[in-house]
Amino acid sequence: MLKLLNLLKDGRFHSGEELGAALGVSRSAVWKQLQSLQSECSLTIHKVRGRGYQLSAPLQLLDPQAIGGHDQAPQWPVFVYETIDSTNAEALRLVGQGRSAPFLVVAESQTAGRGRRGRQWVSPFAENLYYSLVLRVDGGMRQLEGLSLVVGLAVMRSLQALGVRGIGLKWPNDVLVGDQKIAGILLELIGDPADICHVVMGIGINVNMQANTEVDQLWTSVKRETGKGVDRNHLVAILSRQLGQELERHRRHGFAVFREEWEQAHAWQNREASLIAGSTRVDGTVRGIDAQGALRLEIDGIEKSFSGGELSLRLRDDS
Ligand code: BTN
Repeated sequence: MLKLLNLLKDGRFHSGEELGAALGVSRSAVWKQLQSLQSECSLTIHKVRGRGYQLSAPLQLLDPQAIGGHDQAPQWPVFVYETIDSTNAEALRLVGQGRSAPFLVVAESQTAGRGRRGRQWVSPFAENLYYSLVLRVDGGMRQLEGLSLVVGLAVMRSLQALGVRGIGLKWPNDVLVGDQKIAGILLELIGDPADICHVVMGIGINVNMQANTEVDQLWTSVKRETGKGVDRNHLVAILSRQLGQELERHRRHGFAVFREEWEQAHAWQNREASLIAGSTRVDGTVRGIDAQGALRLEIDGIEKSFSGGELSLRLRDDS
């Protein structure tokens, strides 16, 4: 199907005969593939008598060669999928099969994109970026401390490089513009974090998405913010370079060197907020983070640190 999509992506008309010849299949087989494309990828394909088939709008697909052609291209092997359940899930499967890290998994769409705390990450075809970078960690817990916050900084810088203004980070790892989410980060581990493990850094960025009724939180996208469409291959390259630099700095110096810049980017610094863990809720004032990346919350005049993947922070109504 990807081959057919590549033929149609220019947004011009292509006759059934031409498509069949290029794919080496009959015209009725072309018709079937077009039907699947429409239903599986939610694409609209116009058919005009005498002219053929045309995508409703041109598409720029993820392309390993285009990614590799950028001067900021990742140094890691890149696996590109048309549709996958989740790039994080696929990355974990590849680790299980013995694929050596680092490597990168990206996809045009996800059928079961994972968000934090068991939520779904809405992942429409060819609009956004679904990106999972896998690293091997053999330096113990220190190498994992504050890692998701470092990823947040790298995502923020990449989006700033594309012209997005007013970005803030929300502990632990939401990337916001105002109160609207533009990117989310989900780290997953496999192995023994105290010894050798692999960490999958899953990043979802709303890139060219203009409308979507399935997303159940306030959101924005790069295109909504800048008014310009983005070449996602270029974004893969920019993000990979930022991540490469920041992860190397984190590996050498630990999280403490990032603390100040992270707090400067923190959207909710000194705001009144509630920290939620399951059915438990703690109210306090957000004071920042500590040298390990844990959240510092002032509760009744006493500062306490909190960390853990299941925690979520919400602004209090009176904040
Ligand atoms: C969040 O809830 O904010 C985290 C969202 C993370 C989504 C990304 S998309 C790429 C990677 N694959 C997944 O299944 N999830 C992450």
